[in-house]
Amino acid sequence: MMAKVKFASPIFLLLMLVMMPCFFPALGNDYVEDACSVTRYPDLCVRSLAPFSSTAKDSPSRWARAGVSVTIGEVKRVAKYLAAWKSKRYKNVLSDCVECFQETLDNLYKSLGVLRNLSPSEFSDQVGDVTTWLSAALTDEGTYLDGFEERDRGKRVASLVNRVNNATYVTSNALALVNKLATTGPGCLVND
Ligand SMILES: *[C@@H]1O[C@H](CO)[C@@H](O)[C@H](O)[C@H]1NC(C)=O
Repeated sequence: MMAKVKFASPIFLLLMLVMMPCFFPALGNDYVEDACSVTRYPDLCVRSLAPFSSTAKDSPSRWARAGVSVTIGEVKRVAKYLAAWKSKRYKNVLSDCVECFQETLDNLYKSLGVLRNLSPSEFSDQVGDVTTWLSAALTDEGTYLDGFEERDRGKRVASLVNRVNNATYVTSNALALVNKLATTGPGCLVND
């Protein structure tokens, strides 16, 4: 039989859990579900961010970075799809779009750069900037479909709409993860 070691009272443990959430994360392996619970599209979040679970664990800043990385991948996918689309009908719309993507990607890369260099003393400014840039990216994505006729039932437009929607969903999720980071504060940045 195992010896009972009475080194801490339940109340003491409870206090530690409340006061030091960084050191006493959620138990078990549900890191990704836990992180994604704050997002608007949790199923997509879990699917797209599961590969980051073993490295991000319970770190809000790592989950925020993962969210932005996935968003960059998704926006690039839309850009690639459009770049490969040769169409006389949409020639002008397609060439306009090159610029709108560049702006979105700039905002996403700036966000990732700041999330990689978070410092406790600049935390609130940094997180504020990232929130602004991600919101701008979300707005940009809303303009991707401008110029493609709404009534067009073509397969390519339908496929484009799906991809663009997906990009907005993962961006929204990334923004939620950054908001979560903002509410957690800089206290959990140690060892990130
Ligand atoms: C949506 O984005 C996720 C994350 O990148 C990806 O895994 C999924 O295949 C995408 N779905 C569609 C319909 O584009």
